[in-house]
Amino acid sequence: MSSRIFDVLVVGSGIAGLSFALTVAAQGRRVAILTKKNSADSNTNYAQGGVACVTSEQDDFESHVRDTLDAGDGLCDEKVVREIVAEGPARIQELIEFGLAFSRQENGEYDLGREGGHSRRRILHVKDMTGKAIEEALLTQVARSPHITVLEHTFGIDIITRGKVEGRPKGESPESDRVIGMYALDVHANKVVVFEAPVILIATGGIGQVYLYSTNPEIATGDGVAMAYRAGVPVANMEFIQFHPTTLYSTDEKRFLISEAVRGEGAVLRNLPGHAFMTEYHPQADLAPRDVVARAIDAEMKKTGAPYVLLDITDHSEETLKRRFPNIYQRCLKNGLNIAEDRIPVVPAAHYNCGGVETSLDAETCLPGLFACGEAACTGLHGANRLASNSLLEALVLAHRGARAVDAYLDKVPREEVALPEWIDYGGHNEDERVVISHNWDELRRTMWDYVGIVRSTRRLERARTRIRNLAQEIHDYYWNFSVDSSLLELRNLIVVAELIVECAIQRKESRGLHFTIDHPNKLSYPEPSRVRRKPDKVP
Ligand code: FAD
Ligand code: SIN
Repeated sequence: MSSRIFDVLVVGSGIAGLSFALTVAAQGRRVAILTKKNSADSNTNYAQGGVACVTSEQDDFESHVRDTLDAGDGLCDEKVVREIVAEGPARIQELIEFGLAFSRQENGEYDLGREGGHSRRRILHVKDMTGKAIEEALLTQVARSPHITVLEHTFGIDIITRGKVEGRPKGESPESDRVIGMYALDVHANKVVVFEAPVILIATGGIGQVYLYSTNPEIATGDGVAMAYRAGVPVANMEFIQFHPTTLYSTDEKRFLISEAVRGEGAVLRNLPGHAFMTEYHPQADLAPRDVVARAIDAEMKKTGAPYVLLDITDHSEETLKRRFPNIYQRCLKNGLNIAEDRIPVVPAAHYNCGGVETSLDAETCLPGLFACGEAACTGLHGANRLASNSLLEALVLAHRGARAVDAYLDKVPREEVALPEWIDYGGHNEDERVVISHNWDELRRTMWDYVGIVRSTRRLERARTRIRNLAQEIHDYYWNFSVDSSLLELRNLIVVAELIVECAIQRKESRGLHFTIDHPNKLSYPEPSRVRRKPDKVP
């Protein structure tokens, strides 16, 4: 690693981090992208369904806004929804200029997909591998930019603020503090390094690994949310964890997604006796919003005692399915299922975090110099339940707006010389104690799955809180006694994320969107976003 001084540090190389870096670099700023594994390791790379955006004459912004607000169940910020929806087409145009070829019909028009909660066909996709195509297009552009340095296997640990240098308690009034750098672990060298920059973008993606079963890849450990929280920045709406209704039933903890677009093309959910049950749960049946479908599947599985339900797309020809869903077709075939003939066994799994680091519409947090966008951020777009395929859209729009705001910030922020505090390594490695990490990792994910899942209760949430507090104490002690490595850092962050989810869930005394508790089954008339902010530490 040569120079460690940049204008902007971007933590994460998914759609949010890459598109933000491109816009900031185009403004002539020196950018480093820190990413903890290979550049393409991201949730983005797995996105199947596509990007929701108004592009056809049969669609209009008002309808997309209405669908987003309906899915969000009373908690979306309508101004944010309107702006993001309206800015979508310009951002999509940029992706196209980067060489992204969305699937088209034979007549040349976009082959728009449909997903749950959408009243129109409006999902731009690249077959069922949209995310991979986006990631590749963005990485190609990044590789061409002379202003961007990509640092793979570089794990962002914590934000350094001016207040730390001045000896102020950590997390105390972030509004009057500012970002000056970051500690990061050079994973290959096994060494913590210090980066200097007045701006950091948190683009670290999701938190799926906090649950035992998830559609998310291994990188999704909520690192950015935990970092921002430790810096005193408010985190909001963490109880709204979206469980995707249809993932391929298997013994793996990593669940393969069967895109909602499959239901968009007419697939029907059936219980094991063969009954198509969704009409009993919602007027939109199989295309109801995700929270409704996931709860319906959960209820059917409990009713029938079956470990899964079935997704039936067998009325389509093999040719059609191979063309439209080549990845899903092949993956199911590998598992012994021909989806043109066999019904697919599916179960819900943790998929998306609707909450995150609280930001403005320009990706600003309350800590000057700290920006966040993508799945790690909470802008107010998703409310209590994200509308399908609105996530990639939000990441694109916020990355662009955030990059503009960063330019203005860099013009005014002072760049005086400050000696950044070196990282203190408190100990060596103790192989005998490694079992604490693997055991606590398993315990945390099972606790979250069993007690903080699709259907919740106050008692289960309180049980989870007690267990997570014990894990937090153990890992806190471990952290200050041994050298850090990726798995310790991730577990430490996952524990923070779990605490935040449980705290927000306990705060919400109602059932709304993705948060359903048997103790408060009704909605309150005047709902508020939930919000958690860390109490300042005594030490810097
Ligand atoms: P990510 O793409 O997850 O990128 C995060 C990056 O941060 C990664 O590079 C990671 O390695 C890096 N990182 C994390 N922590 C650190 C750290 N401490 N230091 C350094 N680097 C770090 N949404 C849609 O809108 N449409 C879809 O069709 C769709 N399908 C999906 C299918 C699947 C299977 C999954 C899992 C998600 C899907 N989503 C979809 C959601 C969507 O893909 C994600 O919300 C979105 O891609 C998030 O982008 P991001 O840039 O915020 O984060
Ligand atoms: C899917 O393809 O079903 C995932 C879409 C999303 O998460 O938005």
